[in-house]
Amino acid sequence: MTSYKISRRGVLRGASAAMGGLLLPMAAQVHAAASARFAIGDSDFLLDGQRLQIRCGEMHFARVPREYWTHRLKAIKAMGLNTVCAYLFWNYHEWREGKYDWAGQRDAAEFCRLAQAEGLWVILRPGPYACAEWEMGGLPWWLLKKPGDSFLRTRDANYMTPAKRWMKEVGRALGSQQITKGGPILMVQVENEYGFFGEDLDYMREMRQGLLDAGFDVPLFQCNPTNAVAKTHLKELFSVANFGSDPAAGFKVLDQVQKGPRMCGEYYSGWFDTWGAPHRRGSAAGAVADIQTMLKANGSFSLYMAHGGTTFGLWGGCDRPFRPDTTSYDYDAPISEAGWMGEKFQAYRDGMKPYLMAGETLPPPPPQNPLIAIAPFTMKQSASVASALPADAIKAVSPEPIERYDISRGLVSYKVTLPAGPAGTLEAAKVRDLAWVYVDGKQVGTMDTRYRRFKVDLPARSRPATLEILLYTIARVNFGVEIHDRKGMHGPVRFAGQPLENWEIRAIDFDADGVLPPLAWKTGRAKGPAFWRGSFDAPQTGDTFLDMSSWGQGVVWVNGRCLGRYWNIGPTQTMYLPGPWIKRGRNEVVVLDLTGPQSARIAGLKAPILDKLRPELDLARPPNNDKPALDGVKPAHEGEFQNGAATQDVKFARAVSGRQVCLESLDAFDGKQFAAIAELALLGADGKTLNQSNWTIAYVSSEERTREDGSALNAINGQATDFWHSAYSGKAPHPVHPHRIILDLGQSDTVAGLRYTPRQGADGVTGRIRHYRVYVGEQLVKTG
Ligand code: GLA
Repeated sequence: MTSYKISRRGVLRGASAAMGGLLLPMAAQVHAAASARFAIGDSDFLLDGQRLQIRCGEMHFARVPREYWTHRLKAIKAMGLNTVCAYLFWNYHEWREGKYDWAGQRDAAEFCRLAQAEGLWVILRPGPYACAEWEMGGLPWWLLKKPGDSFLRTRDANYMTPAKRWMKEVGRALGSQQITKGGPILMVQVENEYGFFGEDLDYMREMRQGLLDAGFDVPLFQCNPTNAVAKTHLKELFSVANFGSDPAAGFKVLDQVQKGPRMCGEYYSGWFDTWGAPHRRGSAAGAVADIQTMLKANGSFSLYMAHGGTTFGLWGGCDRPFRPDTTSYDYDAPISEAGWMGEKFQAYRDGMKPYLMAGETLPPPPPQNPLIAIAPFTMKQSASVASALPADAIKAVSPEPIERYDISRGLVSYKVTLPAGPAGTLEAAKVRDLAWVYVDGKQVGTMDTRYRRFKVDLPARSRPATLEILLYTIARVNFGVEIHDRKGMHGPVRFAGQPLENWEIRAIDFDADGVLPPLAWKTGRAKGPAFWRGSFDAPQTGDTFLDMSSWGQGVVWVNGRCLGRYWNIGPTQTMYLPGPWIKRGRNEVVVLDLTGPQSARIAGLKAPILDKLRPELDLARPPNNDKPALDGVKPAHEGEFQNGAATQDVKFARAVSGRQVCLESLDAFDGKQFAAIAELALLGADGKTLNQSNWTIAYVSSEERTREDGSALNAINGQATDFWHSAYSGKAPHPVHPHRIILDLGQSDTVAGLRYTPRQGADGVTGRIRHYRVYVGEQLVKTG
C-alpha cells in the first residue's frame, strides 16, 4: 500500500492526474497522513500496515450515565467488539448559540480516553446532523430562528456558517484524540445518511472540507442506506452502507462504487420505540448470521446499537411525520438499557468468537451493577403549572413559533380575550406539539399534532371570556425535511373564521437540561396540569426502574436531574434511574404531569416495563370508523411491481390531482394474503417526490400492532427499515387482498406517479405487493 498525503484543501499530492477516472484504492482517494497508523487499503483497513477487521458497536455517551461509561465499554469489549462508534450531538454541546459545553456527562474527550483504556478504537460521528432519535437529529433549535423550511443540511449560509463553526470546535476539543496524535479515533464520519435527504454532492464536499479544516487528518467516510450509496458516493470520500438485513446486497453496492474494504456503518441489532406504538425487537439469530456473513466476507461492521441506553433529559427525538421517541433507548440491543448482558449478548459473543484476529482473546463480561427496589411512595405536594408561569408576558398580535421569542422548549401558555358571542370553532394554522384549551379555566378540548388536530369547538359566551391554551413541546423531528420543526402555536389563530389578536405568552423554558421554574409547593392536589414533589429514602444505592404507570404524561426529575419524559400510553411504563444518581438517605423526586395521575404514587422496580401499550389512556383521537369510498372512482393507475427489494418509480399515464391517494394491493409475490410497504412516496409533475410533512393516514384496511409494529405510519416515515404490514395476529381469518392504505396529503396536489419501496429483507419475504391499483381523489374516505 502506498500512502498519499493530502493538502488541507483536499487535493491529492502524489496521485497522478491519469488516475482520475479509475477506481483507485481507497488509500489513494482518502487522505492518510504519513504519520498515520491507520489507513484504508484496497481491500482492508490497515493498522500499522496490518489488516484490521473492524468489529464496532455504537454507544452514545450522552445516553449512558458517565459513572457507567467504563462498565459499558467493558461489556462492548467482552461481547467481541474492538471499536466503539460514538455520535456527537451538536445541540447537546451548543444549546445556546456560541456557548459550548463539554463538561461532566458531555466530556467526549474523557469518553475517548476511557475507550482507549479498555483497548477499544473509536469511530467518531460528529454530525453536524446525526439523526439518532435525538432532538432535531442533533441540530440546535436556534438555527430555526432563521426563516425558511429547506435551509438545514444545505449550503445556505444560515446553516453552513454555524455548522462549520461547530466542526472547528469539535476539532479543537477532540483533534488530539485521533490515532495520528496517539488517541483512539480511527475514522471520522462526514454528515449522516445524506442520501436519505438530498442530492447536492457539493454540500457533502463542503462538509468534508469542514472536517479537514477543523484539523482532522484520519480517514473520513460517509454512511448511507444501501439504496442511496451509489447516488451519494464521492470519489474522495470512503463509503460504508447501513442496513439491518441482506449484507450481500450492501457489500455489492460498495464494490460497485469503490475499491476498498467493505463495511456496514450501521447494522441494526433492534430498533427504536415511539410513544403509542408496539415495542420493537430484533432477532439475535438473524443478526448473528448476518454478522458472520460479513466477517466471512472480510467485512467490517458497526452494530447500531451495541448498547442503546436511555435518552435522559429532554433529548428524545421524533420520527416523521410526528411520532415522538420513547425515553428508553434500549433498542433491544445485546447490552440492555441498564447494561445487562443476557442471552442476546451471549449469542453475539459466541457468534463473534470464531472470527477474532490472531492472538486476540475476549475478556470476561463485567459484573452486573447492583439493583434495588423502592417501596411505593406518595408525592404529597404539588404546584400548578399556572402558578409556576412567569409574571411577565410576551405580547404578540398573533402567536409566532416559540423560537422567534428565544424559547427553546417546555411549557407555553397563550392567553387572549374572547368576545361574548355564539359557539364556534377555534383553529390554529399549526400546533406543535400538544395543547390543552381552556375557556375561563374550564378545559374544552385538546389539540394534537400527531393527527394534525388543530381545531376545538368553543361554547357560547354571554360575556367576554379568557381563552388559554397550554402548550407542551415534546421533541423536534430528527429525520427528513421535517427537521425544520418550529414549536408552539403558529398563527393566525382564528375563532369562527376571525383572527384572534393581542395575545399574552408566558413560557417555562426547560432549556438544555430541564431547568425547573421556582415552585410554590402546597400539600395536596393542585388544579389542572401540575408539578408534584415527594421523596424516598434509600438505605443503599443501586439501579432501579421508576414505575410511572399510574401517572399521565410529563417529565420526571430526581435530585434535580431531569430523567426524561414518560407517557402512560406506553410502550415504556418505567424510567431507568441509575444507581449513581441516587443518594443514600433522602432523594427528592419532582414530576410534571399534564393530565393528572390516577394515583400520585411511584415505586422503584427491579426490571423495566418496555412493552405495555395502553391506547385507551391517550388523548381523544379522531373517529376511526371511516371507510374507503372508492365506488365509481376510476384508478389513476394499475400495474405490477417488480419482485425484489429495490425501490421502484412508477409513472402514471397522466398526472392527476387530489388530496387523497389510495394504494390498493391485489396480490403478493409469495402468493399469500398479506401486504406490506416499507415506504410510499408520491412523484409530482417534475418527477420529484412530494413533500410529506403534512401527510396523515386517512385510512388503512388493517395494520399489525401486536406481534410487531406494522403501523401504517411506517410507510410514510422515510425509513425503509420498518414497514406497514396488514394484520396477521390473533384469530384467523386475517384480512385478505385487496388491502388499502389511503394517504391524506393535507391539501390537494398534483400526483404524476409513485415511488414504492418494498419491505426489505431476503428474497421471498412476506408482503411484497405484486398487482396493485392507485386511486387519487379529493375525498376517498367517508366517515362511517
Ligand atoms: C439511521 C440513522 C441513525 C438512527 C437509525 C435508526 O440509520 O443513521 O442515526 O436514526 O437510523 O435508529
